[in-house]
Amino acid sequence: MPLVTRVTDLIGRTPLFELATTSTGTRLLLKLEQFNPTGAAKIRMAREMVLDAERRGLLTGGGHIIESTSGNTGLGLAVVAAERGYRFTAVVDHHACKDKLRAMRAMGAELVFVADDGDDTLATSAREDLAEAMAAARPDAYFTEQHNNDANAVGYYAVAEELLEDVERVDILLSSVGTGGSLFGTATRLRQLGCPARVIGVEPVGSIAFGGEGGPYWQSGTGTPPGATIGTAVDYSLLDEGVKVSDIDAFATARAVAAELGLMIGGSAGGSVHAALSRLDEFPPGSTIVTLVCDGGEKYLDTVFDDAWMAERDLLDPAAEAEVQTMLHRYAPAARRAELAEAR
Ligand SMILES: Cc1ncc(COP(=O)(O)O)c(C=O)c1O
Repeated sequence: MPLVTRVTDLIGRTPLFELATTSTGTRLLLKLEQFNPTGAAKIRMAREMVLDAERRGLLTGGGHIIESTSGNTGLGLAVVAAERGYRFTAVVDHHACKDKLRAMRAMGAELVFVADDGDDTLATSAREDLAEAMAAARPDAYFTEQHNNDANAVGYYAVAEELLEDVERVDILLSSVGTGGSLFGTATRLRQLGCPARVIGVEPVGSIAFGGEGGPYWQSGTGTPPGATIGTAVDYSLLDEGVKVSDIDAFATARAVAAELGLMIGGSAGGSVHAALSRLDEFPPGSTIVTLVCDGGEKYLDTVFDDAWMAERDLLDPAAEAEVQTMLHRYAPAARRAELAEAR
């Protein structure tokens, strides 16, 4: 690892973790994107959106970046803005996890809330409208508009390149869809590199990108709430299948993975891992399945990993956690199984 002088030089080359294997040689690999600065995948696209705007002359020295964010994009933009001398305003709601908001502030971002304290509704649509209006009113401002920005997906091309450095091929790419940038950007580049993986998108029950009834959900950063527009970064032409995961299953999975393996993954990754584990045996024998872990669990100590917060929202479900634990044992890779047997 060479010495670096910028935080953004630390983006990428995230590890691959083998979570599960079947007797038919199918394996589930997690791309641990929490190893990026800010602890999330989204700094990849934040950097790309800013570099793209600079290349196109839309952002110049001392300019002002504005974005609507559930937190992780804002964290990435805060880093890039600090490094490159921009002012950054994040338009946020109280559905966002508090540590993401606090960390954005720590890195110099200005936060503008679309709702009053105590209103923790997910307000994607209101956030986007306000960000757009604010940018239109300020001549030096640029709205990065992650949902409709091609640079979002391009920011993840390196994920595909890194994957193919680590494994021969990816048969199935299964991951959560918010803006769609991470899943479809990775899938696009895999295809360009001659590895056309089957693409399975995951969204929370209540999210509307894959049809069905809309409603509230607690999974953070992922999904499209009712009333929000689905942006161009959701590339339906690449999507083979869209599946939905409940908050209970997503959070039970994040908690079980933490308790069983000491690996903290966020709630959206919990949803993807649940979707993958529960149908691992249905995939063709010998498949390599990759899930992007968009962020780590440390950001959710006050929510997903807080029993009181979970219980207040009827999300605590020991039976669901036990079910995930059973799957983790059943599919434990041989090396982990041997270690466990030795420890017992
Ligand atoms: C925790 C988390 N999971 C999933 C996603 C969805 O990623 P994408 O917007 O690339 O679809 C995001 C995006 O903000 C996120 O922060």
